[in-house]
Amino acid sequence: HQAPPRITVIGTGYLGATHAAAMADLGFEVLGLDVLPEKIEMLSRGEVPMYEPGLEELLRRHVAGLEGASGRLRFTTSYEEVADFGDVHFVCVNTPQRHGEYAADMSYVDTAIESLAPLLRRRALVVGKSTVPVGSADRLAARLAELSPAGEGEVELAWNPEFLREGFAVDDTLHPDRIVVGVRSERAETLLREVYAKPVAEGSPFVVTDFPTAELVKAAANSFLATKISFINAMAEVCEAADGDVVKLAEAIGHDERIGRKFLRAGIGFGGGCLPKDLRAFMARAGELGADQALTFLREIDSINMRRRGHMVELAREAVGGGLLGKRVAVLGATFKPDSDDVRDSPALNVAGQLHLQGAQVTVYDPKGMENARRLFPTLGYADSALAAVRGADVVLHLTEWREFGELDPAVLADAVAERRILDGRNTLDAALWRKAGWTFRALGRPTA
Ligand code: UDX
Repeated sequence: HQAPPRITVIGTGYLGATHAAAMADLGFEVLGLDVLPEKIEMLSRGEVPMYEPGLEELLRRHVAGLEGASGRLRFTTSYEEVADFGDVHFVCVNTPQRHGEYAADMSYVDTAIESLAPLLRRRALVVGKSTVPVGSADRLAARLAELSPAGEGEVELAWNPEFLREGFAVDDTLHPDRIVVGVRSERAETLLREVYAKPVAEGSPFVVTDFPTAELVKAAANSFLATKISFINAMAEVCEAADGDVVKLAEAIGHDERIGRKFLRAGIGFGGGCLPKDLRAFMARAGELGADQALTFLREIDSINMRRRGHMVELAREAVGGGLLGKRVAVLGATFKPDSDDVRDSPALNVAGQLHLQGAQVTVYDPKGMENARRLFPTLGYADSALAAVRGADVVLHLTEWREFGELDPAVLADAVAERRILDGRNTLDAALWRKAGWTFRALGRPTA
């Protein structure tokens, strides 16, 4: 019987930090690496650089040196240390959209492989988790073989895409809907089965495939989810034109199990660090492969999605009588979704920014995203509470569906605003309640009264 594999995690963003903590929780010795020393210092103190429910608790349970912790989790900035320590190296760095184009920026992945490979003097499995254009794993495997002193046969690559959602990262990592591994050898498969033995025993399906399929599963899953959202948002447009109710419509079609009820929430559309850029990167890659026709529909998915933001701006303009100049707009929500402090490609902030550019006086409040929002849009106004944000407002916009906003008392807010007008961009507020308190309430894709 061999000792359990020792695990390293390269890159400690959302994905890496969660993966490292989860691996320690599964009982493995884990070493996490990031090139940013300040991040490593924070994590080593058991602090998480972003807001993610449950992650800090998990980290504190395992970080070496913390009171009562298992000590199985450590962090470093040294690739040497990582190469010496690990049997399995997970690559969790990000692949953002390249500036001014659709394609993914592979430089962080390439750098990670190029930093690690020349130091690999012993047997190791390198496992890519980052979302990459199909074909990358093939190319990276060749690079590994070429650069690692231990050589081909000893050092191998596998591809294991990650499907975690922000806000549910811990649970999604410990109890994934499925585990997908692209492998080229039985040894790689066996090792990954060992790593994921617990979630598999608890019911997560384990899907074994080749490199390109593993890479494509991720792109396909994200495209499907984005398509579902844009589909229901397209229905919202039609509902609005016909005075129908998209929320009822979604519920009704969702009862058909073939369709399903999830991911049919109409509103101002999807954002965040994944769906939008992954769609675009997928289209760009398909183009390079000569298969762009297969994905032209994704262009439409993207444009329906972007139209939602513009539509919200138009509704706000209409609500204040046609001109935004000097009007006070309160924006509730800045993050791309609740239970996250992430404002990357956030529809809420995008709408706030557009309104500001058109001359409105915008005040934003968000429970967790204020710091990140301020950094990204320093010229917007910010308030410390929902009540403070709506003070004197000509119109209130509900753009991220935090639980806190669902619990607001419309009667209390009514006394603070200049005009009792609210637009629900997420279809989660109780229209009857707001109307009873004297508000003009309008939601996307729903009847006006
Ligand atoms: C997504 C995928 O869900 C995940 O599997 C993948 O690994 C990364 O991308 P995430 O970005 O964390 O995860 O957010 P998600 O919960 O999928 O929401 C994405 C966006 O879609 C949010 O802006 C959300 O508000 C929006 N959305 C979601 C809708 O507008 N309607 C819905 O019905 C669902």
